[in-house]
Amino acid sequence: MDLINGNEIAQEIIEELKIEVSAIQGGKPCVVFIRVGEDPASVSYVSKKEKTAEKIGIESRLQLYPNSISQDELLEEISLANNNNEVHGILVQAPLPDHIDERTIFNHVSPSKDVDGFNAFNLGKLCQEQEDAFISCTPAGIIELIKRKNITTEGKHVVVLGRSLIVGKPAGMLFLRKGFPGNATVTFCHSRTPDLENHTRRADIIIAAIGKPQFVTKEMVKEGATIIDVGINRIEDSNKKSGFRLVGDVDFEQVAPQTKFITPVPGGVGPMTVAMLMKNTVQAFKGNHS
Ligand code: GUN
Repeated sequence: MDLINGNEIAQEIIEELKIEVSAIQGGKPCVVFIRVGEDPASVSYVSKKEKTAEKIGIESRLQLYPNSISQDELLEEISLANNNNEVHGILVQAPLPDHIDERTIFNHVSPSKDVDGFNAFNLGKLCQEQEDAFISCTPAGIIELIKRKNITTEGKHVVVLGRSLIVGKPAGMLFLRKGFPGNATVTFCHSRTPDLENHTRRADIIIAAIGKPQFVTKEMVKEGATIIDVGINRIEDSNKKSGFRLVGDVDFEQVAPQTKFITPVPGGVGPMTVAMLMKNTVQAFKGNHS
């Protein structure tokens, strides 16, 4: 079993970006973070993104709004950032309150500033295999881990658990692309898939992105499979000062010994999401300045 150290690989990317940003003459990449409400996970994710941007030399502007903001008001705030030449990237942290339609919001971000890769234009470009698509940061992070660990994907069977717009769907599309990492056969499974084990047991690579703590057990995984665990779930733990600990969608203790590669939680995919956001922001800056 080879543990994929996401912290270490994310740090490599951050160091590469620091060098790239320090060589920029005239201007500086700038990203706007839009957060609505006080969801504790969103507060923590956005704060991590701000700190990482600062380390690299990327300017970040945090815009906070109350849960009561209307959809039209939020669209107007995005228009202002779209039209501001000093801003190269825009990120609207999900989830948004129920009265706001996330797709409408994501599609309003200018495609050239869509560093999250959530809008229909960039998702379409991903399907068309266009090189300059902004790719959603978590799936982009997964692919970067696969690339840097040189894990073979060609001819392999990838099973994606989860069909979200943010992770499941784009992750599957990336493994399907021509080239490396790609050329895989991809199966999407979700909450309505009967006999899930039947699929996962035939997988060479499992992408677990269903948001259910320790859902993937050893009976579901074949010997020598690679497991990418995207889940970040809080479970109660009275031994911890905070009263909880973080676990993935995979029962790590049980499953790890029979895998070829596995990502831990925390310290696997999570830090890669942040690193890839920074990479997308630098790409957005360069796109505007080339
Ligand atoms: N919520 C959970 N993951 C993400 C992400 O990668 N980007 C944004 N904007 N919101 C999220």
